[in-house]
Amino acid sequence: MQKDRKLIIAGNWKMNKTAAEGLALVNDLKLELANVKEVDIVVCPPFTALCEVSRAILNSNIRLGAQNMSEHSSGAYTGEIAAGMLKEFSVRYVILGHSERRQYQKETDALIAKKALAAHAAAIRPIVCVGETLAERESGQTEKVLDTQVRGSLAGLSKQQMEETILAYEPVWAIGTGKTATAAQAQEAHAFIRKLVGTLFDETVARRVRIQYGGSVKASNARELMGLPDVDGALVGGASLEPRSFADIIKNSI
Ligand code: PGA
Repeated sequence: MQKDRKLIIAGNWKMNKTAAEGLALVNDLKLELANVKEVDIVVCPPFTALCEVSRAILNSNIRLGAQNMSEHSSGAYTGEIAAGMLKEFSVRYVILGHSERRQYQKETDALIAKKALAAHAAAIRPIVCVGETLAERESGQTEKVLDTQVRGSLAGLSKQQMEETILAYEPVWAIGTGKTATAAQAQEAHAFIRKLVGTLFDETVARRVRIQYGGSVKASNARELMGLPDVDGALVGGASLEPRSFADIIKNSI
């Protein structure tokens, strides 16, 4: 199904794959996906594999993303990685505010907003993640949580920057659990987020911004999810670690 917005499907490898393993994976993906033009394809390896993967995908249709970055541009921040360092490896996208970082590294909406601005300043497109937990959904808080996260994590972005930001709706209860949101649940959340972007920015931005779905996306459910009116791609964890399953998600989405 063709939409005005080009689909963007990104593989979030999380803390998996050495540089050598990552190289083998993208070499297979290059062959599998060589003819795909309809979808923006992104892989997000760990920092330690960026250099190798970057070289391997040069002159291919696969783009590079990172999984996190610092809100600072340089300085005494031991263990952190700045946007300028990512640029060196032709990183085009960066996942920000993934629920695992919100949970384990206690990242806040305010911090994520700072990182998003820093990414844009370096011409890297942020993929900003939002999503409710199971307890929040069951207590009827989904829209309230999404409202807070979207407002907070995108605070300070210009309209132009917002248009170039990717949002990822990832219900926390669907991540790595095998439980996918139903088509109706996904569409409802995506439509809510798009409407909110319209309120916070404007209608044109809302119409153009791409919103990925994430949470147990696999080849068997990709077609239905990607066909939903407000779903413009996927952020794929587990199923992005094997060339066949990631390639099939992309092929089934076209
Ligand atoms: P999953 O992870 O596809 O393994 O559920 C998605 C994500 O966390 O981005």
